[in-house]
Amino acid sequence: MLFSKKTPGPEVDLEHLPRHIAIIMDGNGRWARKRRLPRSAGHAAGAETLRRIAGHIQRLGIPYLTVYAFSTENWKRSPEEVEAIMGLLRTYLQEVLRDMEKNRFQTVFFGDLSPLAPDLRALCRQAQEASRPYTDCRMNICLNYGGRDEILRAARLYAADCLAGKADPQRLTEAEFDQYLYSRGVPDPDLIIRPSGEQRLSNFLLWQAAYAEFYYTDVLWPDFKEADLMEAIAAYQHRKRRFGGV
Ligand code: IPE
Ligand code: IPE
Ligand code: MG
Repeated sequence: MLFSKKTPGPEVDLEHLPRHIAIIMDGNGRWARKRRLPRSAGHAAGAETLRRIAGHIQRLGIPYLTVYAFSTENWKRSPEEVEAIMGLLRTYLQEVLRDMEKNRFQTVFFGDLSPLAPDLRALCRQAQEASRPYTDCRMNICLNYGGRDEILRAARLYAADCLAGKADPQRLTEAEFDQYLYSRGVPDPDLIIRPSGEQRLSNFLLWQAAYAEFYYTDVLWPDFKEADLMEAIAAYQHRKRRFGGV
């Protein structure tokens, strides 16, 4: 077994890392409130945490990271807050495009991008297109994403294929249905991390989370550090995954 000595936090077995980590980046608002700052400052700090944690995940050699950036329910927030989040995303994607060769992340979006501002949608498209060659580490950004919405969309696409005679409902398998999801071709998440003390999925990866291990921590996302990531991975490595077996 190889243990990481250089990284902070508990010892982690580098030979048995999760292949796919998913993170519900929660707690930005509470982080800002504690500091008497506007919620937007919490989102800015959260975006900074994403930059750092994504780098750590890449250095560990973990090939898939999926992050929950904006849910189908987050439109219920004030227009100012939604605009602040979209503005941060714009900056983030401009950076992704600028620093792509240095950062070497494949960036893919899960979610319905059609309600986004046209320039932001274009940035998403450009980032996704231009980062296609960087397959060693893939980051899926869930944006206007909902697990139920994803499943409904897949069902609609599948039904259309049935009507067109391209699919036979009697023969539908899980593997075939998978092909209609945003996550097609991506292995299911092994570990789902939710900071900020909430212990719920909030409509994240409902289909894909079937056998994921969950890790909750009270740390707020903007405060989440490399040591917290290693803590989560260490906890994951102590779980016994049975997948229904014995
Ligand atoms: C998560 O932080 C970011 C988004 C949902 C976009 P929150 O904004 O939900 O932070 P809390 O839960 O209010 O602290
Ligand atoms: C989930 O967090 C969505 C994201 C982190 C993007 P929320 O803060 O929206 O979830 P609830 O409202 O606490 O369930
Ligand atoms: Mg929240």
